Amino acid sequence: IVETQKLIVEKEPEPEVDDGKKKVTIFFGTQTGTAEGFAKALAEEAKARYEKAIFKVIDLDDYGADDDEFEEKLKKETIALFFLATYGDGEPTDNAARFYKWFTEGKEREMWLQNLQFGVFGLGNRQYEHFNKVAKEVDEILTEQGGKRIVPVGLGDDDQCIEDDFTAWRELVWPELDQLLLDESDKTSVSTPYTAIVPEYRVVFHDATDASLQDKNWSNANGYTVYDVQHPCRANVVVKKELHTPVSDRSCIHLEFDISGTGLTYETGDHVGVYSENCVEVVEEAERLLGYSSDTVFSIHVDKEDGSPISGSALAPPFPTPCTLRTALTRYADLLNSPKKAALHALAAYASDPKEAERLRYLASPAGKDEYAQWIVASQRSLLVVMAEFPSAKAPIGVFFAAVAPRLLPRYYSISSSNRMVPSRIHVTCALVHEKTPAGRVHKGVCSTWMKNSVSLEENHDCSSWAPIFVRQSNFKLPADSTVPIIMIGPGTGLAPFRGFMQERLALKNSGVELGPAILFFGCRNRQMDYIYEEELNNFVKEGAISEVVVAFSREGATKEYVQHKMAEKASYIWEMISQGAYLYVCGDAKGMARDVHRTLHTIAQEQGSLDNSKTESLVKNLQMDGRYLRDVW
Ligand code: 2AM
Repeated sequence: IVETQKLIVEKEPEPEVDDGKKKVTIFFGTQTGTAEGFAKALAEEAKARYEKAIFKVIDLDDYGADDDEFEEKLKKETIALFFLATYGDGEPTDNAARFYKWFTEGKEREMWLQNLQFGVFGLGNRQYEHFNKVAKEVDEILTEQGGKRIVPVGLGDDDQCIEDDFTAWRELVWPELDQLLLDESDKTSVSTPYTAIVPEYRVVFHDATDASLQDKNWSNANGYTVYDVQHPCRANVVVKKELHTPVSDRSCIHLEFDISGTGLTYETGDHVGVYSENCVEVVEEAERLLGYSSDTVFSIHVDKEDGSPISGSALAPPFPTPCTLRTALTRYADLLNSPKKAALHALAAYASDPKEAERLRYLASPAGKDEYAQWIVASQRSLLVVMAEFPSAKAPIGVFFAAVAPRLLPRYYSISSSNRMVPSRIHVTCALVHEKTPAGRVHKGVCSTWMKNSVSLEENHDCSSWAPIFVRQSNFKLPADSTVPIIMIGPGTGLAPFRGFMQERLALKNSGVELGPAILFFGCRNRQMDYIYEEELNNFVKEGAISEVVVAFSREGATKEYVQHKMAEKASYIWEMISQGAYLYVCGDAKGMARDVHRTLHTIAQEQGSLDNSKTESLVKNLQMDGRYLRDVW
């Protein structure tokens, strides 16, 4: 099995071409791959439709090395489409962060984009407070700076069906591109309705016994000086503990990764990205459904045999090959999320039973919108389950990895330790995802299941688990001045970064640093079940790392007690702390808890400060702007 540290194959720089053809640049800011998928799909269709134009799909992180290069390049663009996702607390995706910061916070610019015609499609979720903030903002600034908007900003809503939003937006784009890219003579010939192309990689099968393919073991001396999402670091699991008591019917895992000697470092409050693996039952089922044996060794190519590019796969292969099908399915294929419509469309193309093909096509079509929403999304049918229901639809490997199964993405966790206390370890606090779906199946989260099943070095010294990990910086940081008061609100696994904060403060205190007051609001169901890290929390108070822990138990009494109820009880104290310059931190679920806590904060300010509505609004806004109200929410 080929094991490599470089999980994503680096792209070759493309040569600049200038043969008088019109050029369209399609940018994507993606976290889970959806925006990237839309960008590529649109490019595909466009290439087929406008043979005389050139389409480039660009990862925003690869667009420029610095702000100057962004500026220099963007100035030259004439037609550009942007696919931009908004995450968490109204933030851009990691790969768009540099561009977004430059574009939105950069120096005052005049009308410098007058040569640019553009369209923006946003990917967001209406349940969140800052719905499609990134796309809206970029769209607005592009206009302010002289760009001509060819279509209204698309507001994709992942709470409904974002693929339908994309389809609808795309229908608005075609007539505009027709105007920009077609000669009069072409216009009649391309009027036929577009049919989606099923993308495909070229696959070469190898002799499984060929020893030259079994090279490249993981080693940390890989020449990379910086670990990141594309160059993770191999880290062993050294400690694994269950945090819930045996009477709990759920599970929450405390895991420690050993990073000593790797060069990987972190700061308290950062996130760790973990590449996990599908469990073996899932992989075996996928192999059975695909109809290949697990030891099939293959490589993926984005060019034709003669080296010329395959239409639409200008980008690099999705993962390093040659490898076995077992490895590819274990490490790189997302099998447990619901299939996208594009995946159903691809499966339909390979279904040998016409009835299955017809049903798949219907589910993927605009007419099958409600059925897709109900039968696939609401009932949480996974790709694997859908494949099992359409056994005749056997996609070849090259189609499966290009169009059916998305890449298995790393999962991010708020690090629950402090680098000041444990510099050689990264601690993770992870709730096991194990839910019954409406269709009656049990959905097991990929990474949390992997963590739950992992074997620590403590348990087995010879064959412990490891994962490729990397650190993502965050701005969820303690105040530079440790005497500034802090208020932490984190129910459930929202406690994670605060455990890091408290370790940090304890380490500071032990080295003689003076600390300001600190209060933690924690919430769980029941003291006997899921009061995680109870002893540690009490110890932090005893040792003076924090002043007070306030716990809300939601399922002990007759009524629900949540963290925000406890905050309301302590309204005057919270107000006093805020008036003294306190920092406020919220971590956990964005849709329910963070929103309710946000409201409670307003109420506290209004009542305690006797402020009217607009004064309250601006107070909270200012706290946010000053970096004194920070949220790490998902
Ligand atoms: P519940 O499951 O009993 O509703 C950690 O998940 C804790 O957060 C649980 O006690 C959970 O309570 C609680 N919780 C659920 N929704 C919440 C909300 N909107 N605000 C605050 N806490 C919430």
